[in-house]
Amino acid sequence: MPKHIGIIMDGNGRWAKERGLPRTDGHVAGAKVFRKISDYCHDIGIEVVTFYAFSTENWRRPPTEVAALMKLFKEYLVEADEIKYDRQKGGYILRFIGDTGAVPKELQKLVAKTQLDALDENTTIINIALNYGGRQEILHSVKQIAEKVEKGELKASKITEEDIEAGLYTAGQPDPDLIIRPSGELRLSNFLTYQSAYSELYFSNVLWPDFTTDDLDEAILDYAKRNRRFGGV
Ligand code: IPE
Ligand code: IPE
Ligand code: MG
Repeated sequence: MPKHIGIIMDGNGRWAKERGLPRTDGHVAGAKVFRKISDYCHDIGIEVVTFYAFSTENWRRPPTEVAALMKLFKEYLVEADEIKYDRQKGGYILRFIGDTGAVPKELQKLVAKTQLDALDENTTIINIALNYGGRQEILHSVKQIAEKVEKGELKASKITEEDIEAGLYTAGQPDPDLIIRPSGELRLSNFLTYQSAYSELYFSNVLWPDFTTDDLDEAILDYAKRNRRFGGV
């Protein structure tokens, strides 16, 4: 079983287009699948699931689409806060990774609120990658290290991989064992760039709004058959 699964929720726009609907309807449908898959990951005992919701590059989209996405994230967080399912179900907890300081103010407040929720042992961590970019994350970590060096707290020759990892948004979490990308695109699009060094990749042609728990099972079964060598024999 993978401890940490990364999911690139892609294909919402194409799903909507196939149905003659506006792209934003695809995002609404995709958000429902996000809920279902998060629940399922908790049920089957996955420790960490990271969902790619909005990349640092997604600001290039039309302002109306960006605004619709931000509205959707906000609605989701308000709902999550009301239900508080993270505690009541002994279920999961939301964490945000990415440069969340650059998202709309109202959304920032909701993000800050969920980040305060305490983590207990049996909770599944649901990371939502929001305004996330792997390169931006590495830069963020490098700047923290540079500050320590500047202050004389750390010698450049003593910098370790652990120092880099400590500055990542996923610090303290295991690296993703499995990264799933639906929608037929064969790339990572700046997702978990540092952490994915030894991740197993799984691509599927299903569009995210059509993605089911069976599709997830299939990905996990495929993963279970692989031989992870990490450079050994
Ligand atoms: C993923 O679906 C959602 C986000 C990137 C926010 P897309 O909107 O990229 O869907 P396609 O790739 O255009 O079908
Ligand atoms: C990656 O999907 C980002 C998210 C799913 C949030 P994109 O649709 O933005 O990726 P590209 O542009 O096809 O690489
Ligand atoms: Mg896409």
